[in-house]
Amino acid sequence: MCAYSPVVSARALTKRYGQTQAVRGIDFSIPAGECFGFLGVNGAGKTTTMKMIYCRIARTSGDLLVLGRDPARDAVAIKQRLGVVAQENDIDPELTVLENLLLYASFFGIGGAQARRRATELLDLLSLTGKERAQVKEISGGMKRRLVIARALVNDPEILVLDEPTTGLDPQARLLVWEKLGALREAGLTLLLTTHYMEEAARLCNRVAIIDEGRILALGTPFELIERFAAADVLELIDAADASALHEQLDGLVVRRERHGDTQYLFCRDSRELLRRLRDLGFDPPRHVARHATLEDVFLNLTGRELVE
Ligand SMILES: Nc1ncnc2c1ncn2[C@@H]1O[C@H](COP(=O)(O)OP(=O)(O)OP(=O)(O)O)[C@@H](O)[C@H]1O
Ligand SMILES: [Mg+2]
Repeated sequence: MCAYSPVVSARALTKRYGQTQAVRGIDFSIPAGECFGFLGVNGAGKTTTMKMIYCRIARTSGDLLVLGRDPARDAVAIKQRLGVVAQENDIDPELTVLENLLLYASFFGIGGAQARRRATELLDLLSLTGKERAQVKEISGGMKRRLVIARALVNDPEILVLDEPTTGLDPQARLLVWEKLGALREAGLTLLLTTHYMEEAARLCNRVAIIDEGRILALGTPFELIERFAAADVLELIDAADASALHEQLDGLVVRRERHGDTQYLFCRDSRELLRRLRDLGFDPPRHVARHATLEDVFLNLTGRELVE
């Protein structure tokens, strides 16, 4: 494979389950070493897309290449070179942490001292040392998730695919998983993940595809998406009078205006400056929030809905 060819590429990729069109023609291409994320709400088509990539389900139409090969023809060869963290932890609760890793290693033909060495390294990498003999059912949710990540690395994969790596974890456990994934990315591993946490996407991903109802609505670096679909800052006016009448007098400070429910979102370069200007004009909002814009705003502006429901 040529060094510049993408490790995953999709063109007009679709998946239909009976009457449900889960993925409606998506295009993307992921270079080696990138952390690429699909950000979207429940039912957006994230898992379906991941499952087509990790050769769990067949696509309905379109093109898909993973590590230069077509999953429709070369699933076995592709799977040897992938690490997969599925949405649900599929680990044997009755086995110990170490037994789970050794069993999984055996599926890749890795056994004996080599498997033990690899397991020890991975337990250390994911901060699970000392838990070798614990039964999976006894360890915390955060540890289970880290064990599934350790297991996915057993075959030294070229791409690590993670479907919602931190959903359901408490904030501290989530931070630890982010730290581990950040280290893997820094080590040069290609990461492909799905999430509905905008902070997860913003922290980890070089590029993000916003996916909704089976379509990619926007794709770019978090910075590009925020610049393009929001602005650097946002001033939220809650339960305030309509500020649009002042538009002419704001000297172009507001670059985009949205209203959702009782909140007006004024996207701007500098929310404090805008607030000062509004007050100078005699407009004093009863309640407001001045903050930097996030991928959450991008999602809201693109879909009219909130990411976290
Ligand atoms: N096996 C299946 N049979 C029928 N419909 C399915 C199947 N799997 C998923 N779907 C439907 O396809 C659509 C996309 O589902 P998918 O699981 O890919 O979404 P998702 O983005 O992963 O959502 P979540 O955040 O809830 O995991 C949904 O409407 C879902 O109900
Ligand atoms: Mg899913």
